Amino acid sequence: MCGIVGAIAERNVSPILLSGLKRLEYRGYDSAGIAVINEHQLFRERSQGKVAALEAKVIASDLKGSLGIAHTRWATHGVPHERNAHPHMSGTIAVVHNGIIENYQELKSKLSVGYSFESETDTEVIAHLIHSMRNDSETLFATVQKAITYLEGAFSIAVIDSNLPGELVAARKGTPLVIGMGLGENFIASDPFALLPVTNQFIYLEDFDCIRLTCTSIEILDKSGHIIERPTKNLYATDDAADKGLYKHYMQKEIFEQPKALSETLQGRLKVNLATLMGCDTHLSSKIEAVQINACGTSYHAGLVAKYWFESIGIACHVEVASEYRYRESVTPQNTLFISISQSGETLDTIEALKLAKQKPFLGYLAITNSPDSAITRESNWTILTHAGREIGVASTKAFTTQLTVLLALVDALSQHSNAAISEALTSLPFYSEAMLAMDETIQKMSKEFSESTSALFVARGILYPIAMEGALKLKEISYIHAESYPAGELKHGPLALVDKNMPVIAVVTENALTDKMIANLEEINARDGCLYIFKERRVQQKIGFGHEIELPDMPEITSPILVSIALQLFSYHVACEKGTDVDQPRNLAKSVTVE
Ligand code: AGP
Repeated sequence: MCGIVGAIAERNVSPILLSGLKRLEYRGYDSAGIAVINEHQLFRERSQGKVAALEAKVIASDLKGSLGIAHTRWATHGVPHERNAHPHMSGTIAVVHNGIIENYQELKSKLSVGYSFESETDTEVIAHLIHSMRNDSETLFATVQKAITYLEGAFSIAVIDSNLPGELVAARKGTPLVIGMGLGENFIASDPFALLPVTNQFIYLEDFDCIRLTCTSIEILDKSGHIIERPTKNLYATDDAADKGLYKHYMQKEIFEQPKALSETLQGRLKVNLATLMGCDTHLSSKIEAVQINACGTSYHAGLVAKYWFESIGIACHVEVASEYRYRESVTPQNTLFISISQSGETLDTIEALKLAKQKPFLGYLAITNSPDSAITRESNWTILTHAGREIGVASTKAFTTQLTVLLALVDALSQHSNAAISEALTSLPFYSEAMLAMDETIQKMSKEFSESTSALFVARGILYPIAMEGALKLKEISYIHAESYPAGELKHGPLALVDKNMPVIAVVTENALTDKMIANLEEINARDGCLYIFKERRVQQKIGFGHEIELPDMPEITSPILVSIALQLFSYHVACEKGTDVDQPRNLAKSVTVE
């Protein structure tokens, strides 16, 4: 998704801005741009494609300045093209913007008398709006404060004016923005990760905050225009995450980091009660009769797996895609805990669903996230962090398995008779995940055989069905191969019509109450000549005898969704490598989806 970096210093900020953009590349984007002010003049370079292309232009034009803003764009309004890339300019003003301006058409028609528009973006109206409101008797800061009251939608913006080479103005509503504090220099970014090479001191802005930065001062005005101080936070994240090490891709590195991520997520969370796990009131545990989970994408799949776990201990569980929940009438059963799951903690649909839920009579609001200072954390009563470490690959891997781990620890804590089987399975999880990673080469061989396919069905039963959904999502995200998932028992109700020798079916068979039924479903596929790729747990006694088969190590049934998902991640990863796609930044996708 779009990324913002801004800097004001007594040195050339172009390298800082470019390095910040590179650190935001993992979020997904299609074009990039930069504008700096040098001796009261505004200079801009923009480029479609990678930041490296922009960097080449910056070097060629020797673009330098001590005040600047930069942006990676993920197209919402207007095709990915240089003319639509930010910064957008109006006279002496340049603007970068994350989010969507919902009333941009209305503003555009008002501004069309006097301004000509060069792009199809919603952002360009912000530049012209601010320019049209600028007058000598008012500061840029005051103008921007006024201008944002005309903007509907979610946005973070950063504004510079070549008449004012000593100040950077920015504002946020609904999408993230932080100030990075330096010595005699200050910065802004949509993600603090962009600024870690220059500072580790950050101020997280709140909705409607409007700020003015100089080299040595920071002014923050809140919604009502009052000067306000926001807390400073130190971020001690190491730079490790930005280094692929010996791995070919971040996704591969992150898959292999899972044993560590799982064990860090489990630290201090085994055999604990709810109060210890969530930091909540000791009485909450006995009050919870149901949970409502809201999330998007992979995080939604984590919720679907958790439904099986919650309901196995008698707690009703409803799971919904956040973008649906927020636009429908829903009933809130009594004594229900609302849970938001989000790796980034910044997914707009999940945040908005949570805000809506806060108007309903839930018992309270729990966030499960990988981002301690995210909006979802701030909106929730309690947070359980997944200690996955930074996930850079757009396709979620370790974030997913750590979400599942937290959810199972939560079920364990809620279980009336402290479930020994859950605790044992969780304790051994990092060990079993190592065993699954040892399957890498075997899985790679199978993925080679599969990689020419243009379509695939993923099938499983019971608690592994959401893992089939996640497997299909992973495959389509990074290999661009069409994939769908079905509960195997559902095939005969329609999808079986698709099955012939040209339809690969990826199936998961583990030892559980449904093993025989699952194998019977595979027989049905085989009888129609379906091309089966079977991931089968070693201890399953029944011989299958058809299709391509991989034997997975034995695993505890309760943690099998977490462990099987690692095998499917490896499968998709190797298929994508075979196809030569952009594994870490797949086309059209963004790491953190901060627009509707
Ligand atoms: C995962 O591979 C995807 N990139 C995507 O589905 C993601 O899980 C979804 O956008 C939700 O993100 P979140 O967990 O940060 O809220």
